[in-house]
Amino acid sequence: MTPELMEQGAQRLVDIEQKRASQQSTESGGRTASYARLHKSNEIDTTHGRILYLEDVNVSFDGFKAINHLSVDIAPGELRCVIGPNGAGKTTMMDIITGKTKPDSGQVFLGSTIDLLKYSEPEIAQLGVGRKFQKPTVFEQLTVFENLELALKTNKNVKSSLFFKLDSEKSDRLAEVLGTIQLDSEVYRDAGHLSHGQKQWLEIGMLLMQDPKLLLLDEPVAGMTDQETARTAELFLTLKGKHSLMVVEHDMSFIATISEKVTVLCDGSVLAEGTLDQVQNDERVIEVYLGR
Ligand SMILES: Nc1ncnc2c1ncn2[C@@H]1O[C@H](COP(=O)(O)OP(=O)(O)O)[C@@H](O)[C@H]1O
Ligand SMILES: [Mg+2]
Repeated sequence: MTPELMEQGAQRLVDIEQKRASQQSTESGGRTASYARLHKSNEIDTTHGRILYLEDVNVSFDGFKAINHLSVDIAPGELRCVIGPNGAGKTTMMDIITGKTKPDSGQVFLGSTIDLLKYSEPEIAQLGVGRKFQKPTVFEQLTVFENLELALKTNKNVKSSLFFKLDSEKSDRLAEVLGTIQLDSEVYRDAGHLSHGQKQWLEIGMLLMQDPKLLLLDEPVAGMTDQETARTAELFLTLKGKHSLMVVEHDMSFIATISEKVTVLCDGSVLAEGTLDQVQNDERVIEVYLGR
């Protein structure tokens, strides 16, 4: 991570905390103290070796336990693959991390100091958690360039978007992201005319414009051609290290290409964790998932 990216992340936390502080009608000592602490910590603290930490998380929907004593953690720069049968709770886990669903109990931390359960969905995005849903959501009538530019504008960290001008630093960033997602040659094409795979890459590019520390990707290669899937694998391998990634996928050959550590979810909790080889040879995993 560059000092500049660190600085931007720090500024986000300060902005959120200032907004919070200004919304508080009463000034309690405890609140002031915690404000000062967060203000000082300034960035995602990964000194304990974790960018994301879930412990004993539980969620029920009308009495049905979708997430059941779930504990998972992700190391900084890691590319974690998550597999599991339909209904295992994979999407719900992402809903919890991104603040879309609040768990009934448990802990969810970004680094060791940011308690994500205290933040709303937009605030969590501002803190540096980017999410890619399965369906591509790009602006079809806008060009590739305009889509990326828009993603930069909606980054609240960029001040006064009304008077937004693409200065050289930002256009450098845009060019860098264009190269990463390999859409340089499509830059002035309407997003609506891109292939399904290209739309998915563009949306990932839009997330990258927001400098996410952690990227959550739900079934990113679903519906892609084999060639597009192979290029997506390459893309994820280039993102690893610079970002931390959590990838949910059913495509096992894709998982085999990108995976280091694999988490198998079943019935809302971790059934097995290890290399793909280890989990593929785990009797319980074969029974509930792979053997089917
Ligand atoms: N908002 C909701 N209301 C009720 N049930 C839900 C809701 N979201 C998910 N579920 C249920 O929780 C279980 C886990 O779903 P999900 O997280 O989507 O699984 P996966 O992504 O692993 O296929 C499923 O049985 C699903 O029907
Ligand atoms: Mg799902």
